[in-house]
Amino acid sequence: MGKQVVFQRCINPDCAAEYDVSEVIFKCPKCGDLLDAQYNWDKIDVPKKLKDFGKRWANRNLPLDLSGVWRFRELLNFCDDKYKVTIAEGQTIMQSNDEVGKFAGMKAGRLFLQYEGLNPSGSFKDNGMTAAFSHAKMVGAKSCACASTGNTSASVALYAHSCGMKCTVFIGSGRIAFGKLSQAMDYGAQTIQINGDFDDCMKQVQDVCMKLGLYLLNSLNPFRLEGQKTIMLRIIEGLGWEVPDWIVVPGGNLGNSSAFGKAFYELKQLGLIKRIPRLAIINATGADTLADMVNNKKLVWNNGNVNNKTIADYYADLTARKFSPHTCASAIEISRPVNLKKCLRAIDVCNGVVRAVSDEAICDAKAVIGKYGLGCEPASAASVAGLKLLRDEGIIGTDERVACVLTGHALKDPNVTVNYHKEKQGPFSNPPIEAPNDFDQIIKLIK
Ligand code: F0G
Repeated sequence: MGKQVVFQRCINPDCAAEYDVSEVIFKCPKCGDLLDAQYNWDKIDVPKKLKDFGKRWANRNLPLDLSGVWRFRELLNFCDDKYKVTIAEGQTIMQSNDEVGKFAGMKAGRLFLQYEGLNPSGSFKDNGMTAAFSHAKMVGAKSCACASTGNTSASVALYAHSCGMKCTVFIGSGRIAFGKLSQAMDYGAQTIQINGDFDDCMKQVQDVCMKLGLYLLNSLNPFRLEGQKTIMLRIIEGLGWEVPDWIVVPGGNLGNSSAFGKAFYELKQLGLIKRIPRLAIINATGADTLADMVNNKKLVWNNGNVNNKTIADYYADLTARKFSPHTCASAIEISRPVNLKKCLRAIDVCNGVVRAVSDEAICDAKAVIGKYGLGCEPASAASVAGLKLLRDEGIIGTDERVACVLTGHALKDPNVTVNYHKEKQGPFSNPPIEAPNDFDQIIKLIK
């Protein structure tokens, strides 16, 4: 594939098999490992400076320049413009937030919140779907599918109807927040509720896609991750094209962290950044496979020679114990993350760390983000809870510059929010006040 602008390559260095960009495979047919989109950069006219991408804001009437993903199109140069599907994703903003920073132990002006809830379907997934659906269109797919803890299904359903494709989404029964379920149904997806958890759905959807030839939209899809790289570009843009010291992101199926590591590796390779920020990936304690494997089982990338036995033994133990993950952050309630190896690579590239935070810490952080920021769903708040933990441990310095990615909108999961406040579950609870239907008494109650 040496001569092609773009191709797919297996991440296993012992295999490193290459495939044409038009192949719809999602896992290396030779060894079963994950695939990357790879570019021959000398064949792509990449702008010389990151600042040059910013100029496209002036052309906001051109859909590809308006998109916060395709604005950076040379860095995800895998398909012709005529196939690109956009619904103005990536119009997200990064905000400095001193109150949330204070909660997490940061000095003023050092914490930034990258709010991905502003995307069309209300989560960061749209960054990936615009890219994956463009690939799907390029290869002529007519029907697609995904497994989901909720946001992927909402985003898939939205993009599928935007480009006239049929879609089927697999969700674990009782494992999805209502905001997300309502989106999948409302956007017209065929919704299959499996009596199982996300990991069960993920396995089923891969087999179903294989059998029926459906286009798979989970983050196994390397083109989806190409779109998610741009979240990092917008963070750099938000800092006047400077790189922060840390990126903090929740970890579930580990697509984001994998994409972020790839983005920084490529930007450095292209000479567009001088230094790579550190990456902190935050699990929930009830779904902490990555934290456990990295911190306790010492699993590392090791130049691609990952210890497969450690992973196989770990999963065999989960099966033997009939383990199913549980956290109020249902978006990251995953115990067999499909991008585990790519995430290990990202940790290697970014000198990353992994931590797990409790549901209580997540809900407190969420309430603080709600009170002082734009609000977010529980999984997103794991980033701020993780930052607080890493500050307490002294791993992140109080005056380092930190960007926390808030992955989903506050309205995705109203139940967790309402319960936290109404049931006074934490120090930041703000319950409604019961009042009689009486003017004088109401007046007395208002402070
Ligand atoms: N935050 C939110 C709001 C999510 O929906 C997800 C994943 C994550 C974080 C974790 O990101 O998988 O890239 O590590 N949600 C998927 C879904 C699994 O099906 O919607 P990741």
